[in-house]
Amino acid sequence: MPGGSHSLYVTFAMPLAEPLTTATAIAKPFYIGPLLIDPPILQAPMAGFTNYAFRQIVREFGGAGLLATEMVSARGFVWLDEQEAEHPDRLWGVPEEPRPLAVQIWDNEPETLAKVGARLVQEYAVSVVDINFGCPVRQVSQKAHSGSYLLRQPDRMGEIIERVVTACAPTPVTAKIRLGCTRDTINACDIAQVVEGAGAAALTVHGRTAADMFQGSADWDRIAEIKPHLRRIPLIGNGDLDTPQKVVDAFRRYPIDGVMIARAALAKPWLYSQAAAAIRGEPIPADPTLTEERELLLHHFELVLERFGDEKGTLLMRKFACCYAQGRRGARDFRKRIGTVKTPAEFRSIVQDFFPRESLVASR
Ligand SMILES: Cc1cc2nc3c(=O)[nH]c(=O)nc-3n(C[C@H](O)[C@H](O)[C@H](O)COP(=O)(O)O)c2cc1C
Repeated sequence: MPGGSHSLYVTFAMPLAEPLTTATAIAKPFYIGPLLIDPPILQAPMAGFTNYAFRQIVREFGGAGLLATEMVSARGFVWLDEQEAEHPDRLWGVPEEPRPLAVQIWDNEPETLAKVGARLVQEYAVSVVDINFGCPVRQVSQKAHSGSYLLRQPDRMGEIIERVVTACAPTPVTAKIRLGCTRDTINACDIAQVVEGAGAAALTVHGRTAADMFQGSADWDRIAEIKPHLRRIPLIGNGDLDTPQKVVDAFRRYPIDGVMIARAALAKPWLYSQAAAAIRGEPIPADPTLTEERELLLHHFELVLERFGDEKGTLLMRKFACCYAQGRRGARDFRKRIGTVKTPAEFRSIVQDFFPRESLVASR
């Protein structure tokens, strides 16, 4: 792996739909407060996935200008603190791992979020505190009136951001939103002004509404409409970017400062690095071979085992393994077998069996 012991990268030019003839950069690095985001491609927070092991894999490939944790419940953090218990599992790796690193927090209480933001800055020295205003999941939105629920309460959002910004200064605080709660109540332009006015250092927008969940396509025209409403802070677009070409197109077509990639990177954690090469106008590194991907998956597994031990680590790794196999022929069979695996030996044996098989080699 680049920068690591696994040499996974072979550089050869993968044709782009519209070939880039000169090495002209398509997008420039940008700043979140004092922090340079270079390349202007961000790894999205994904609950249950973007833990230390995943971030480490992304970091080894390179290409993400800012990495992010999973969202952390601010209330849960405070509760653990009061019990003098260990901090959330979701902060695994955060104290020691390389920067820049954003930690995303969620709640609806300005005071709770400010308290946790301050702890993350002082104790963990994180580079960015990101606040989740986009999560549509029932537990967070309807039940806890947090995440995307807050999009219907711009004043509350402003209050939250102001308090967190003050508590975290000079560390930048950012906000991640969806376009609105529903298609009929899209209010991202108004929200953008609130976010900027309250002192946030960047705004990330997933181009769907909360009601959309993940249906339909991300609406990049709506993301673009937000730009004139921001005077000072960068706009980061997010949604459905799953190839280097789509990242290039997003920068070419829309007035964004950065892009954020989520789901596609679960199957291809090297996508950031390919997208970074593409926006620099350079040849795109090839996908890893099947053998390299198997080594990568086993490396990922070892990182997870170190933290969670054999039993929990193996269970946790099932879903990551399914992501890696996604889109390959034989993936269904692989998923079925890996879905019941209980021990590291079983896991390794199934991976060894399936990954190098020629039948699995298919174009993605
Ligand atoms: C499994 C999963 C977990 C997610 N968890 C979070 C999260 O913790 N915080 C957040 O802001 N967004 C979360 N998201 C949303 C993504 O960050 C991103 O906005 C969305 O997937 C759209 O980007 P994509 O099309 O590149 O996947 C999650 C998405 C998925 C699929």
